[in-house]
Amino acid sequence: MYCRFLVPFVVLTLWQSVHRVHGGDPFAFFEWDVSYMTAAPLGVKQQVIGISGSYPGPILNVTTNWNVVVNVRNSLDEPLLITWNGIQHRKNSWADGVLGTNCPIPPGWNWTYQFQVKDQIGSFFYFPSTNFQRAAGGYGGIIVNNRDIIPLPFGTPDGDITIFISDWYNRDHKELRKTLESGKDLGPPDGVVINGLGPYRYNNSVVGDGIIYETVNVEPGKTYRFRVHNVGISTSLNFRIQNHNLLLVETEGSYTVQQNYTNMDIHVGQSFSFLVTMDQNASSDYYVVASSRFMDPTVRDTLTGVAILHYSNSQGPAFGPLPDGPNEDDTYFSMNQARSIRWNVSASAARPNPQGSFRYGEITVTDVYVLLNKPPELINEQLRATLNGISYFAPQTPLKLAQLFNVPGVYKLDFPERFMDRPPKLDTSVINGTYKAFMEIILQNNGTTVQSYHLDGYAFFVVGMDFGIWTENSRGTYNKWDGVARSTTQVFPGAWTAILVYLDNVGIWNLRSENLDTWYLGQEVYISVVNPEDSSNKTELPLPDNAIFCGALSSLQKEQSNKYRFSEAPSFTSSAKMLFSCILIALLHYLKY
Ligand SMILES: *[C@@H]1O[C@H](CO)[C@@H](O)[C@H](O)[C@H]1NC(C)=O
Ligand SMILES: *[C@@H]1O[C@H](CO)[C@@H](O)[C@H](O)[C@H]1NC(C)=O
Ligand SMILES: *[C@@H]1O[C@H](CO)[C@@H](O)[C@H](O)[C@H]1NC(C)=O
Ligand SMILES: *[C@@H]1O[C@H](CO)[C@@H](O)[C@H](O)[C@H]1NC(C)=O
Ligand SMILES: *[C@@H]1O[C@H](CO)[C@@H](O)[C@H](O)[C@H]1NC(C)=O
Ligand SMILES: *[C@@H]1O[C@H](CO)[C@@H](O)[C@H](O)[C@H]1NC(C)=O
Ligand SMILES: *[C@@H]1O[C@H](CO)[C@@H](O)[C@H](O)[C@H]1NC(C)=O
Ligand SMILES: *[C@@H]1O[C@H](CO)[C@@H](O)[C@H](O)[C@H]1NC(C)=O
Ligand SMILES: *[C@@H]1O[C@H](CO)[C@@H](O)[C@H](O)[C@H]1NC(C)=O
Repeated sequence: MYCRFLVPFVVLTLWQSVHRVHGGDPFAFFEWDVSYMTAAPLGVKQQVIGISGSYPGPILNVTTNWNVVVNVRNSLDEPLLITWNGIQHRKNSWADGVLGTNCPIPPGWNWTYQFQVKDQIGSFFYFPSTNFQRAAGGYGGIIVNNRDIIPLPFGTPDGDITIFISDWYNRDHKELRKTLESGKDLGPPDGVVINGLGPYRYNNSVVGDGIIYETVNVEPGKTYRFRVHNVGISTSLNFRIQNHNLLLVETEGSYTVQQNYTNMDIHVGQSFSFLVTMDQNASSDYYVVASSRFMDPTVRDTLTGVAILHYSNSQGPAFGPLPDGPNEDDTYFSMNQARSIRWNVSASAARPNPQGSFRYGEITVTDVYVLLNKPPELINEQLRATLNGISYFAPQTPLKLAQLFNVPGVYKLDFPERFMDRPPKLDTSVINGTYKAFMEIILQNNGTTVQSYHLDGYAFFVVGMDFGIWTENSRGTYNKWDGVARSTTQVFPGAWTAILVYLDNVGIWNLRSENLDTWYLGQEVYISVVNPEDSSNKTELPLPDNAIFCGALSSLQKEQSNKYRFSEAPSFTSSAKMLFSCILIALLHYLKY
């Protein structure tokens, strides 16, 4: 038992008074200790990253507009940053947790993230953003519930189930990093895990003995909301449940037109919510499958994650072949499925007015960027991945701090709008976004594998995707009405994806390949959004008091005096002592308001 279980309870009673007295938004507090632990996802013991002793980490379960305070202690042996995939951090890129905005938390230090989940609902996840650490775990779910006054666009589910699917290597994240640094490809993953656990032994000649698998317990006749996240390294996965329909209802913060699917392709970094009704006769358990897409036939059997859906009245184990997914090589199927995902324009979400009242199709585009990626290539004898011929070089001083303190020479606002025919280079070149501009970004994939892209700070509208090279005429095919707003989109090899984004959130925001390998090799860029008229911090929050300094600003950093105090927290044994400290934390916060 840790504080995080008790604090929400204690805080719950307190925040209500905060709410009544001051009309402010509630606070939720979390205390996390990020450390290595041992696990054997595929039957091979290895080091993984856990949060307060659990892998996957705890779920951040909050409601629209809540303030989230997460005190993260870094008990790893290397720097750490946690990023909140899909959380928009309005006015507050200070809490984004990527190297362009934050100095990493040194080993043995703690750092408290504070952000508001302003005007958001939906299913997201967090993960460690640096040093390839996500390959070792460290991730967990984020649920942002509707406020009570805004009804869900479907009946209240009987339960809420979070599922992480991911490719997995038996080598640890440091070895994987080294492989890439030595200019080699990672090679195929060793397997696919579901909630950090290996496959159920559906076939003795494919799955070894003694692997622990995930069991999802359900009641007959009930309907559950499954929130499924691909938190993997680079493999697109197809998700399905034997004999059960997946009714798609939400993706990354947008309610969708509700449609049944028998399976769904989920690309790296993407999150989906499905309603699944337990409408089968429970003559047996059922398979829950996450299988690789577009992989070499020789590794496909290995790249299949299998969990068990267990009805409380089940008559026996799951049996038979796994349910079929789509043809493994069929990118057309996958693209058509992606295009079939639509925004429910009449559903309310974070606000009572319909999602579709923001008529993105009627807004004039003011800036256009065509971002082209190529397969990783050698630059200065290093293997690097590029966007428009530039491989991002992460400076010691975060861009955001350099901007605030006017540190010269850290970055340039000169990122090219198109691919330039010039030798590729390493650079810290940033997109100069214009505040309140409406930007069109075309992601053109000249590589041979699916790339997923994620933009921090925003949801963007996915308005088109097709094979071939994007041209101005491609705009004629855009969906200008109900393209879904989300934060992660896939780009198929030899194809393009077009997104539209309204740059109304001041900050410096990361646009990255969510595929860990190409991201690590430099396939990312930042977009700087400055409000030239803001002198009173109305459109951007000030630098937080606890900001960590590094690089050219290291001299501003004070030694962390309270780090020893924090290190006691995870070793609490007496629950009375723990409850007391939780109340104290809550009380201290209460008194501030
Ligand atoms: C999240 O919290 C709400 C109460 O705020 C609760 O009703 C719900 O069951 C919780 N969901 C999960 C998945 O813990
Ligand atoms: C580290 O944790 C301590 C104890 O909980 C807290 O008082 C302090 O503010 C934290 N430090 C930072 C930089 O967030
Ligand atoms: C088990 O897998 C092997 C290898 O793929 C296959 O040849 C065999 O048919 C499978 N057995 C069953 C019962 O499906
Ligand atoms: C989805 O499938 C379920 C059966 O699993 C059915 O009851 C429901 O009507 C279908 N919904 C839609 C929108 O097609
Ligand atoms: C349950 O469903 C399975 C598969 O649909 C079917 O083969 C079986 O006969 C059913 N059993 C009962 C008791 O209805
Ligand atoms: C869209 O949302 C509304 C709730 O506002 C809901 O009643 C309707 O069923 C949804 N439409 C579809 C097609 O999912
Ligand atoms: C960045 O864009 C702003 C307009 O939004 C412009 O005023 C400024 O000169 C640009 N900066 C550079 C370095 O191009
Ligand atoms: C990449 O670009 C080259 C040159 O334009 C082209 O020949 C090739 O077909 C492209 N490959 C992909 C996968 O788009
Ligand atoms: C705005 O924020 C900056 C730091 O981010 C701070 O130096 C300045 O004092 C703030 N201005 C006001 C009016 O609060």
